[in-house]
Amino acid sequence: MSIRVIAIDGPAASGKSSTAAAVAQRLGWAHLDSGALYRAITLAVLDNLEERETAGEGETAGEGGREKRSAWGAQQLVSLAEDLPVRLVLVGDVFRPEVAGVDVEHAIRSPRVTARVSEIAAIPEVRHWVNVQQREAVETHPQGVVVDGRDIGTVVFPDAPLKVFLTATPDERARRRLAQRGDPIDPAELRRESEALGARDRADSTRRVAPLRSAADAVLLDTTRLSMEEQVARVVALARQRFPH
Ligand code: CDP
Repeated sequence: MSIRVIAIDGPAASGKSSTAAAVAQRLGWAHLDSGALYRAITLAVLDNLEERETAGEGETAGEGGREKRSAWGAQQLVSLAEDLPVRLVLVGDVFRPEVAGVDVEHAIRSPRVTARVSEIAAIPEVRHWVNVQQREAVETHPQGVVVDGRDIGTVVFPDAPLKVFLTATPDERARRRLAQRGDPIDPAELRRESEALGARDRADSTRRVAPLRSAADAVLLDTTRLSMEEQVARVVALARQRFPH
């Protein structure tokens, strides 16, 4: 029997999480935002581990470019996540991130976490740990799970019967992110946000492990000119074809 997973991948602020949440709701499935787990670990690390001095060795040459090296040991991070613990808890039909029993859905969206999450997410041991959590979470849900992230269709659930890769122009994504935060949408802010998103996309696309890319069998959806309702309707239509029951 094929797994009941819809994989939605794409760059920062492409609308993955909002689309995944709405699609899950329409289908009566659960929603799992894998980025929330990477953010929750990052929050836990920043709150609990001291920053070590890495003067002169902050970067290491990666195959696809230069990668920022984390100041913490990989095993130290995974142990912290296990011990606190960092986990996903199913509340209604949404997997919510918790750190030490506290819901951190709001705290993980802070600029402090956003600025460091790609560095933590580039560590193979962290990715392995996150992937195990996701696969376990999916097994507990009877209907099915819409999972969104960067490597869901390529690495975490390569057998997902439906994979969607969402894109939008950097300017449109910056505009959406500012609107989501309720920030003013003036040209200077747009440029700044677009550059910040671009930097995170580059870090995510050029890392050695599980870089951001579309799976060969993913449906590409450019959402630049689509409304949220239109993009949700497209994915729901595809889901009804691929999961007739
Ligand atoms: O919502 P937004 O697109 O800004 O990002 P997110 O989905 O919350 O993910 C935050 C970060 O986690 C990304 O920039 C990636 O570095 C990392 N991530 C990842 O590496 N793999 C995933 N499956 C999901 C997120």
